[in-house]
Amino acid sequence: MDWGLQNRLSRIIKPNNGKGVMLAVDHGYFLGPTERLEVPRKTIQPLLKYCDSLMLTRGILRTSVDARFPVPVVLRVSGGSSIIGEDLSNEKITTSVKDAIRLNVSALAMSIFVGAKNEHNTLVNLGNLVNEAEEYGIPVLAVTAVGKELEKRDARYLSLACRIAAEFGAHVVKTYYCEDFEKVVNSCPVPVIIAGGPKLQEREALELAYNAVTAGAAGVDMGRNIWQSDYPVPMIRAVRAIVHGNVKINEAYDLFKRLCNENPSESTIARKQTKNTTKKPKKKK
Ligand code: 5RP
Repeated sequence: MDWGLQNRLSRIIKPNNGKGVMLAVDHGYFLGPTERLEVPRKTIQPLLKYCDSLMLTRGILRTSVDARFPVPVVLRVSGGSSIIGEDLSNEKITTSVKDAIRLNVSALAMSIFVGAKNEHNTLVNLGNLVNEAEEYGIPVLAVTAVGKELEKRDARYLSLACRIAAEFGAHVVKTYYCEDFEKVVNSCPVPVIIAGGPKLQEREALELAYNAVTAGAAGVDMGRNIWQSDYPVPMIRAVRAIVHGNVKINEAYDLFKRLCNENPSESTIARKQTKNTTKKPKKKK
């Protein structure tokens, strides 16, 4: 691996343990002002120091993240359809590698839609993006999106999608956790990280992260299960403890509850945007 590419990748997946915590805040690129990400700066700022890298679009990077804060950036460069449009899989590369270099990013991210109408186009886009990004030593994260076809979220389908992404040259693959996740990881020769998916109760989300990492995931690229929690800072710190601290589910959840009770003002700093949906965890006796 070229030095520059290896160096960039090691900002995202830490070389000491092969793991990373990526904070996903790219949802607006097809969902618009997603709940609790309406004012991105407010959501992102308190979480920045707890993530290894930040995944987002150039628009939100430029407007909502302090350029002086040294967080490695994973730039989403694909898009072109919205949740109310006809076909979510109809994506193209929308941000140039030149602009990504100007933004000093550590990796590029794009979605592939295996099994969808635009499978071919998105896979060819991935191949072309890897060709171009490798010229400058920039790694590519392939997001294996399932869109509306949630029934395909099983090990057979996700192994297929992840393996194809790796075959096309992706340096990291993001997918969903599923039963028999070991199969997905073992048949993919590059690091696999998991998305969190729609908001769960905090304990369940921690369980998801723990199960994925135990099955061999190189970490998480989590969004809604962190910043849609009423306690986003305790949540990212608990996820971090699982990914980097090897803690088990109960320990991580205890940490989450302790942090919620210890520092409610810090915990709720980003919660001023919309109504609360999460129950306050019980105080530990
Ligand atoms: C959307 C994405 C998101 O970054 C991804 O879904 C992670 O966020 P969440 O944990 O909220 O699912 O790539 O295509």
